[in-house]
Amino acid sequence: MAPAVDAVTKEGLGATDRRDAWWLAPVSVAAGLGFLGLYLFWAAAQNAYFRSGNYLSPVYSPEIHPGWWPLSPAFLILIPPLLFRTTCYYYRKAYYRAFFLDPAGCAVGEFRRNYSGETKFPFLLQNMHRYAFYLAFLWLFFLWYDVFEAFQFEHRFGVGLGSLVILASTGTLTLYTLSCHSWRHIVGGKLDCFSCTASTRARHGIWQRVTHWNEHHQLFAWISLFSVTAADVYVRLLAMGLIQDVRFL
Ligand code: FES
Repeated sequence: MAPAVDAVTKEGLGATDRRDAWWLAPVSVAAGLGFLGLYLFWAAAQNAYFRSGNYLSPVYSPEIHPGWWPLSPAFLILIPPLLFRTTCYYYRKAYYRAFFLDPAGCAVGEFRRNYSGETKFPFLLQNMHRYAFYLAFLWLFFLWYDVFEAFQFEHRFGVGLGSLVILASTGTLTLYTLSCHSWRHIVGGKLDCFSCTASTRARHGIWQRVTHWNEHHQLFAWISLFSVTAADVYVRLLAMGLIQDVRFL
């Protein structure tokens, strides 16, 4: 087993005694988040090709057209999911390392040594994650309505490739949301006794299930981000007439 690295013994950005490929994770995260973030920003700015028949891109859900808003409505629609992701415990670690290099990895030198954590503005705002969770949780209801619509063809049940793509997007977003640390605390926190009453026993059961999902939160974070992007790309290509939907039922 490799010896544990528990202290920075070299000073300066990137200085370290580590011999493993510690840089691989921040570089991969920077590339992945950078690419997907840029694509989603571009898609949100288009304000076009976000609906094809009964398929609605998750980037534009719920579909609104406020007359007082001069920009693409997606910039309003994406506020809750953006707040949720930027304050997410996993993403915080990921983008602090990938974009701020603060630090780039464990036991790796950084720009400055006067670390104040998230106790000062603007990072103090990260503590609003629980409230972002409430908004993101509400958004799931709109997204599941879109799934229902995606399986309706001329008022009858049907299945197209787009139905499955939108189902995958909402399904993975649901897993991402319900594996959140805040949700885990909501369902099982502040209890002194798990076995004392029927209600606390029920909460303990839910907490165990959420804890299991929570262990895979990082995976759900990435899969859901890819799935949302893929759903937007699919609906966009359909709406532009560049591809045809495949109908299974
Ligand atoms: Fe990641 Fe809540 S969404 S911790």
